[in-house]
Amino acid sequence: MISRLGIFTADQYARATIRGRVDGSAISYDLLQIDDHPTEAEISRFEQISLGFRTSNGTTRLTFRRRLLEVDTTTLELVQQWHPRDAELHVEDRAASNCLTSAELAEQLFPVFPHATIEASDRLLYVLRISLGRGKAYIIEPDGELLQYICPPFVVYLNSREPYRCPVRRLIAARAKRSFLQLGLPQRCGEYAIERISCVHPEADSFCKRDPRLRICTRSVFEHHPGLDVLRTMNILNKAYFPLERLVEGANAAFQSLKPGGLWIVGRTSGNTNDVTFFRRTEYKWEVMARIGKGSEIEELVDGAFPTTSRGSSFSKNNTQSTLLRQASLPPCHFGENSLAA
Ligand SMILES: C[S@@+](CC[C@H](N)C(=O)[O-])C[C@H]1O[C@@H](n2cnc3c(N)ncnc32)[C@H](O)[C@@H]1O
Repeated sequence: MISRLGIFTADQYARATIRGRVDGSAISYDLLQIDDHPTEAEISRFEQISLGFRTSNGTTRLTFRRRLLEVDTTTLELVQQWHPRDAELHVEDRAASNCLTSAELAEQLFPVFPHATIEASDRLLYVLRISLGRGKAYIIEPDGELLQYICPPFVVYLNSREPYRCPVRRLIAARAKRSFLQLGLPQRCGEYAIERISCVHPEADSFCKRDPRLRICTRSVFEHHPGLDVLRTMNILNKAYFPLERLVEGANAAFQSLKPGGLWIVGRTSGNTNDVTFFRRTEYKWEVMARIGKGSEIEELVDGAFPTTSRGSSFSKNNTQSTLLRQASLPPCHFGENSLAA
């Protein structure tokens, strides 16, 4: 019964796991919260929640351990052909979700290129919990987009694409959306207990703490951030997520971000199968250097797209707000500003 209404405590999650009732249950994003020394069970809970997490712009946060290992292998082969061991490579892994696969890339890359640095980024690295008392709470994105309403014993998604078929859930969701507006946020955010819940995998977080060559920050995949030797944008520039013109913008952002000679890794994972293209940026165009599986579904689009000349990023306002996760302290209550939404 519990898991049909929702899972909002660690005990409920543990009981639902034993009974095999976790899949398909609404699990509170509150349970992403774990401390610095997580148990295996807490890590597995974190990973399970990441699998089902859908963000406000319609993308999922689905990622998992070893998902991109064969992509890492080909990346390393190419980079080793092109650069000496002492090269100061600037690598970015964008739309990295909880950054676990970025940490896996770091484990492969740093022993071979000790002077390399990797920036793992995503548009969403934490969510905010607004507590209302008596166990009720909203979970929102930092820009104010609603994700969940927790109203024990219910956990209700507020960004579902389809309205709920269950009338009780539909009613709770509609009321929750209306009441949220009455909270008067962000102006009155001082009146509520607001907590920040990290969406970064604890293993990626502890990797950053012991090795500053890996860092994590907020960044959009559409941002122009020049000077890169390697850029990875896996499982984000997909036709299912973005219209064609937006995908071309993504390709242009990659072009403007890479140095001539730089490597762009773009593709999609279906189940355990990777379809990836490895592009090399020349002075004026892309060249395909390698493929895994069928290659990227946007390969033709990229080939046909004429890269634009350098121009200011449409996300420049947010660029200035890009903060290293570890430097940030208080939960910012900054919704109302332009979000990094796709
Ligand atoms: C399916 S996950 C991909 C994770 C990882 N790259 C992988 O392949 O396993 C997509 C990620 O893209 C992020 N995302 C969505 N829109 C984005 C944008 N405009 N800029 C950067 N990241 C974005 C989502 O928050 C989500 O974490």
